[in-house]
Amino acid sequence: VAGEVARLDGLLDWYAPRRGAYPWRRPNPDPYAVLVSEVMLQQTQAARVVPAFESFMARFPTVEALAGAPAAAVLRQWSGLGYNRRAVALSRAARAIARNHGGQVPRDPGALASLPGVGPYTASAVASFAYGSGVPAIDTNVRRILARVFHGLEPAEVPAGDVRLTAEEAVDRTDPGAWNQALMDLGREVCRARPRCQACPVAKGCWSAGMLSDPAARARPRQPPFEGSLRQVRGAVIRELAAAGDQSVRSLVRRTGHVADRIAFAVAALSAEGMVEADPAALDGRVEGRVRLAESG
Ligand code: ADE
Repeated sequence: VAGEVARLDGLLDWYAPRRGAYPWRRPNPDPYAVLVSEVMLQQTQAARVVPAFESFMARFPTVEALAGAPAAAVLRQWSGLGYNRRAVALSRAARAIARNHGGQVPRDPGALASLPGVGPYTASAVASFAYGSGVPAIDTNVRRILARVFHGLEPAEVPAGDVRLTAEEAVDRTDPGAWNQALMDLGREVCRARPRCQACPVAKGCWSAGMLSDPAARARPRQPPFEGSLRQVRGAVIRELAAAGDQSVRSLVRRTGHVADRIAFAVAALSAEGMVEADPAALDGRVEGRVRLAESG
């Protein structure tokens, strides 16, 4: 995926006017406020979280305030948001933070994930939004975007581990919190289950752009090489290997008409899935590397 990060160029510019869209997005956010908002956002839409977040923070403005409150008071304040177990977990998390972390929300994703009600997604979200850690925060929206942009596939078609590797490479190291939240906004507003590719700031670099929203594009029999989806490149690689046997990446480029970096990307994906066997050189994207259909599996 190296060099592929440019596929998301334009994302942070698109996000800039959205930086202040929610009360939990402050320039130097209070990590406790970020934790509260992320637990609320786990199962409730952002627009509904806004008023609940503001009244919750007014009632329990600090870790200590929350840790010192009876669970029943926290539940009463939570009511309306639903999924009430989150309130109980948040109350326990506040006590654990007060007791074990000196009242400071931990910054380490591992320590965060050991708090009640904080899973890997919420841990990464808090670490990046509150502390600027360069970790991706992968929720279903983000998984969908990355699968489409980098793999040319829908999320169910890409192994979760592949999406994670892609996300780790793609995350912006200068402002990971903005990066992660930008992807969330993009998933909510643009790259929805039924995407709005015409409005998308990263359509230019997306393997899937136009394919999903424009049925005519999908039905078109021949795509120019640069516009083929990764699915098509993968199909072409398998077809040529089946027809002509072992060959180099160079030969696959010539026979399929797709450029080398796309062939190499497809070969790496097919190799990870056990569909083809590839020399290390081919996996490195070198045109002399050889590729064959896997004999087993
Ligand atoms: N969904 C989850 N976390 C979010 C955030 N920080 N901003 C907007 N939507 C979100």
